[in-house]
Amino acid sequence: MRFTIGRAQAWRACLALARAARRISAAASLAVLIAPATASADAKAGAVVFTHKCAECHSTRRGKIVTGPSLAGLFGRKAGSVSDFPYSAAVKASALVWNADTLDTFIAQPRKTIRGITMTSPGIADAAQRADLIAYLATLK
Ligand code: HEC
Repeated sequence: MRFTIGRAQAWRACLALARAARRISAAASLAVLIAPATASADAKAGAVVFTHKCAECHSTRRGKIVTGPSLAGLFGRKAGSVSDFPYSAAVKASALVWNADTLDTFIAQPRKTIRGITMTSPGIADAAQRADLIAYLATLK
């Protein structure tokens, strides 16, 4: 009798362990799903975001001014440094250098990042869309 109870208890413990293991592996696979969301930015998807949200004012051709300056060669350049674009004093004084980090902050909230900027775009709230867009901007030489 004692032996049977012991086995039942062992069985219950075993079930509990199996359940815990399932939970842990579910959590682990969830982490795997979440982690690459930022790492796997997609420049092709970013090009589509650019067309919808930026292209009305920005060309990707060097030297071509629309309402805003060309975004060709954006990565690594100082804010406000396209020679014949009439930037606002706010952009020139920002002392920003465009890279993935500064662009992420800027595109999330353009007018809060550079107070006084004349760019009227509200920016992009969705972090994954921003990551894709920034991956695309990095390809503009
Ligand atoms: C309605 C027009 C408009 C839209 C839409 C727009 N911009 Fe702009 N953008 C401007 C203008 C105008 C400036 C220059 C602002 C100034 O000098 O104050 C500018 C400046 C910039 C700059 C600084 C460039 C430099 O040479 O330092 C970046 C970066 C930028 N925009 C990115 C974007 C991105 C990315 C998008 C799309 C999410 C976007 N803009 C959408 C008009 C726009």
